[in-house]
Amino acid sequence: MKKLTEDIETVLFSREQLAEKVRELGQAITDDYQDKELLVIGVLKGAGVFMSDLVREIDGDLRTDYMVVSSYGNETVSSGKLRIIKDVQQDMKGWHVLLVEDIVDTGNTLSALKAIMEERGAESVRICALLDKPSRRVKPVEVSYRGFEVPDEFIIGYGIDYAEKYRNLPFIGVLKREIYE
Ligand code: IMP
Ligand code: MG
Repeated sequence: MKKLTEDIETVLFSREQLAEKVRELGQAITDDYQDKELLVIGVLKGAGVFMSDLVREIDGDLRTDYMVVSSYGNETVSSGKLRIIKDVQQDMKGWHVLLVEDIVDTGNTLSALKAIMEERGAESVRICALLDKPSRRVKPVEVSYRGFEVPDEFIIGYGIDYAEKYRNLPFIGVLKREIYE
């Protein structure tokens, strides 16, 4: 296996900074959903690492599920249309849904997913995203729980990939331009 760290331009958030932020998000979610039936839905693969840390910081009875979606676009920009590759297993009715994503970029993915959950009869639908690139937003989406704002660079690590690589980095960094240009 090749060393991944050679391809990193800068480290944005260390393992410790991520753990601290995930604890804060988990605490806020714990406080807000005290009397509610919470269904946490992770968007795979990107949110897989974040989601598994996040749910362990939420102190309360909840359910987890996962979706796999793909957008009809090129590799680095999503389009408005969403294709569901793996759907959630359970009925939304009566559940307060929290959608967990790695990055909100254009907002296309999450605005489409939120609409789908609402249409299926969820009690409420909120979004938790570890990273937000507000400069790239095309569709407005309200992010109720947000980890960090990031610049318009190519981000990798902690579940987030470039061409299916770098997901296993324990920190979040910026990929060297020469790798993807
Ligand atoms: P959106 O529909 O444009 O908001 O797409 C968000 C999705 O695009 C994220 O879940 C990521 O999968 C992907 N994405 C956006 N920016 C980056 C990045 O910098 N690195 C890796 N994936 C990204
Ligand atoms: Mg994603």
